[in-house]
Amino acid sequence: MTCTIPEFTALKNSHKKISMLTAYDFPTAKIVSKAGIDAILVGDSLATVVQGKPNTLPVTLEEMIYHGEMVCRAAPNTLVIIDLPFPAGHTGWKNLVHDSATVLKKTGCHAVKLECAVGKHSLISRLVEAGIPCMAHLGLRPQMIQVLGKYSLQKERDLLLEEALAAQKAGAFSVLLECVKSEIAQEISETLQVPVIGIGSGKFCDGQVLVLHDILGLSGRVPRHAKQYICLEEMILNACISYREDVENGISVP
Ligand code: KIV
Repeated sequence: MTCTIPEFTALKNSHKKISMLTAYDFPTAKIVSKAGIDAILVGDSLATVVQGKPNTLPVTLEEMIYHGEMVCRAAPNTLVIIDLPFPAGHTGWKNLVHDSATVLKKTGCHAVKLECAVGKHSLISRLVEAGIPCMAHLGLRPQMIQVLGKYSLQKERDLLLEEALAAQKAGAFSVLLECVKSEIAQEISETLQVPVIGIGSGKFCDGQVLVLHDILGLSGRVPRHAKQYICLEEMILNACISYREDVENGISVP
């Protein structure tokens, strides 16, 4: 079990790939932790997979804290990272440090994750100086969806490498690469000293993260980069139908 930032960063050299999953509530976080997953991300994907919103923009800091606190309570022996929701990092470093500190104080999590705007790595230094570990989210940044128009593979090698090195220099304990061309993600993983966690970025990163609801078959669709291990939607549906039939047929439930 990993439950400190130095333990997590040391996994880079452990010759074992790092596993990470999202979780948003007490029962699922407990299961994810019991499965020996190295770190839990309370992602702002909360907006889409739990709240049913069209993208990650609507989720609030208060909602991230509400869910993050449950996850931390359920998984006291697992490293928990909480996403900073839109528009984190765009309203000045003081707001960023204040909001991130509030997340740490109110949830008991270990670190925050920041979608890093190009050239904004000094924000990471501000967090680290304040004692707030930060994972830098690079590559596809879903909080930019209204500008981007669509979610697509990121292929700008020089810019991505430069951004990853800058994030590491600024003190990020880890870099997350979303939807980055596999060869570029591999080069970044081999270049950086901190762990590089990929999603939709090929198999050569130091670790992988996926959205729990995608692997469980609960998000209504399986993104190209995810693997569905079970179809919980079908199992839950069948259980609910069986229960309804029992009630309608007068079969008493003990
Ligand atoms: O919000 C999220 O779930 C993420 C993904 C990269 C896992 O940031």
